[in-house]
Amino acid sequence: MMSWSDSLSRRLAERRSTSLWRNRQVHQGSDGRLLFTSDGQYLNFSSNDYLGLSRHPQIIAAWQQGAEQYGVGSGGSGHVTGYTVAHNILEQQLAEWLGYSRALLFISGYAANQGVIAALMEKEDRIIADRLSHASLMEAAIHSPAQCRRFLHNNMGSLQQHLAKAYAGKTLVVTEGVFSMDGDCAPLEAIAQQTKSTASWLMVDDAHGIGIHGDEGRGSCWMQNVKPEILIITFGKAFGLSGAAVLCDEQTAEYLLQYARHLIYSTAMPPAQAVALSEAVQQIRAGDELRERLQNNIRYFRREVQQLPFVLMNSETAIQPLIIGDNELCTALSHVLRQKKVWVKAILPPTVPPDGARLRITLTANHTQHDIDTLLEALHGSGC
Ligand SMILES: Cc1ncc(COP(=O)(O)O)c(C=O)c1O
Repeated sequence: MMSWSDSLSRRLAERRSTSLWRNRQVHQGSDGRLLFTSDGQYLNFSSNDYLGLSRHPQIIAAWQQGAEQYGVGSGGSGHVTGYTVAHNILEQQLAEWLGYSRALLFISGYAANQGVIAALMEKEDRIIADRLSHASLMEAAIHSPAQCRRFLHNNMGSLQQHLAKAYAGKTLVVTEGVFSMDGDCAPLEAIAQQTKSTASWLMVDDAHGIGIHGDEGRGSCWMQNVKPEILIITFGKAFGLSGAAVLCDEQTAEYLLQYARHLIYSTAMPPAQAVALSEAVQQIRAGDELRERLQNNIRYFRREVQQLPFVLMNSETAIQPLIIGDNELCTALSHVLRQKKVWVKAILPPTVPPDGARLRITLTANHTQHDIDTLLEALHGSGC
């Protein structure tokens, strides 16, 4: 019989030998633009805090005031004692902002995707997901009792082929608004047309589009004039906080409250966080200037970046991935950039497809043109 220790050390050795070893690095804080470590400060081009709201004084003050009023924890699942006025107000505010009947809060985007798919899908159903969908969506789909199929990334012909196959049960088409590792956007209007014409439902995870795209930051769906049956938004990116919400109609919300286990069996987010999120919604709605600064930075980076020996993805969003391919080279380039005080994390398989190792550069509203010049100099001088 193999011991636990032997089994774990075999798997650890396997991981080490493939150059896919994952590391965390301790740092002392970040303001979206800079990252502070014991070795000094770095220009941070790996943050999802796209609008720099994680340090917004009014959002911090809202959290403090929420903690004074409610304490620091929710004390239970929303179904027991964890659902306060602060949660209720935030849900109503989100639903009104995004034009849905209901919003339900989850503690993370991961939990929301898992909870919703697990609750909705039954054995006779099927999920058709874009093949580059986030791990939280794919994992939920694979573990659900439903049939799981992937369509080629953003490829309407491929989606159509899958949808054309007759199926007795219900069909859920799953995609993202902005793809987290590629930075490109889904053709949501075309996808929605196909789902409507086949009486399927559409679920869009807009983790990277909410707050950034559309009027008042209402996201990718709003921008493309699409209202998916299920919209997932997360608060760990443009909102600068954490948590997530599912936007849906009345009946679906009632259903999820009965069947979404991640909602029922998990401690609700702290009410103080809900108060801070309510303030973040206000800041996002009024955040045209921040969005404009971010767009200017994206335009500036794309204009100034010169020919690099690696492919820079054709992205118009804050996510600007440079595809390196080889895992070791990608990790080495990330280290070279770090020596130049520029922080760009290497993203390796299985987070991205095999041979898809990349430097995932992210731009924020807080970066200055000088910061971007420093990044470009570091990229051009590092062998990138
Ligand atoms: C597209 C997408 N969905 C979901 C998640 C998970 O969200 P959270 O970090 O809130 O768990 C992420 C986070 O990286 C993401 O990029």
